[in-house]
Amino acid sequence: MAVGIFDSGLGGLTVWDVVAKRLPEVPFVYYADSANAPYGVRTADDIFALTKSAVEALWADGCDLVVLACNTAAANSLRRMQEAGVPPGKRVLGVFVPLIEALTERRWGDQSPPREVAVKHVALFATPATVSSRAFQRELAFRAIGVDVEAQACGGVVDAIEEGDLILAEALARSHVDALKRKMPMPEAAVLGCTHYPMLQEVFQEALGPEVKVFSQAQIVAESLADYLTRHPQMAGTGEGTRFLTSGDPARVSQGATRFLRRQIEFVKA
Ligand code: DGL
Repeated sequence: MAVGIFDSGLGGLTVWDVVAKRLPEVPFVYYADSANAPYGVRTADDIFALTKSAVEALWADGCDLVVLACNTAAANSLRRMQEAGVPPGKRVLGVFVPLIEALTERRWGDQSPPREVAVKHVALFATPATVSSRAFQRELAFRAIGVDVEAQACGGVVDAIEEGDLILAEALARSHVDALKRKMPMPEAAVLGCTHYPMLQEVFQEALGPEVKVFSQAQIVAESLADYLTRHPQMAGTGEGTRFLTSGDPARVSQGATRFLRRQIEFVKA
């Protein structure tokens, strides 16, 4: 038994990298649905169906707890899967909620009514499917009042990162920041709402300016997961290390992952 970490492709590795260092005693299975990536240009129903079958495959593989390290999957599927009910002893969590809790300075799982928070103008950078789901605004409204969110759908960025074309990815990130600033000239905070974007964190920060606080997920999710596993130690499993599975071509995905994390990562066919 291990903790499952799921993304459409390589982006979730930014989360896994920090989580695995934070929790070295926890075994992980990382699953990249590379054959169907990118998810961000798909319909909500399509993303739900793909996410559900990936999570079910991880549950069947012995991962009682699965973390959706993909905002697109979480935004379009998490609430729907949880509301439909998960099998006994199984859990699915998403990267979305801990980020919102950090932004609104609430503790993990705080159920109190929404209240005023310090940041009033928030820029959200995410995939087109995450932006059109409006899940971020909905989850934020459960926790905070009076926050103005301007969302920028960052078309093309995930494809460029998956293809290893960082020059294109950086140029696109800058142009998406420009487009956002035309709609919201002075954001106080920016959320990188896609697990691929930490690769471009410095580019986003530079284009936004030093006065904008940029929230990215890996550290926040690692702390939330550590907290969750302290309260539910039976979900962690035993053993150590990570198995990397992909629905795509393992050689190609391993090469991409190695370039992405700048160290050798070996994927096998799921
Ligand atoms: N990494 C995914 C996310 O966090 C997006 C990837 C995709 O579009 O497939 O949203």
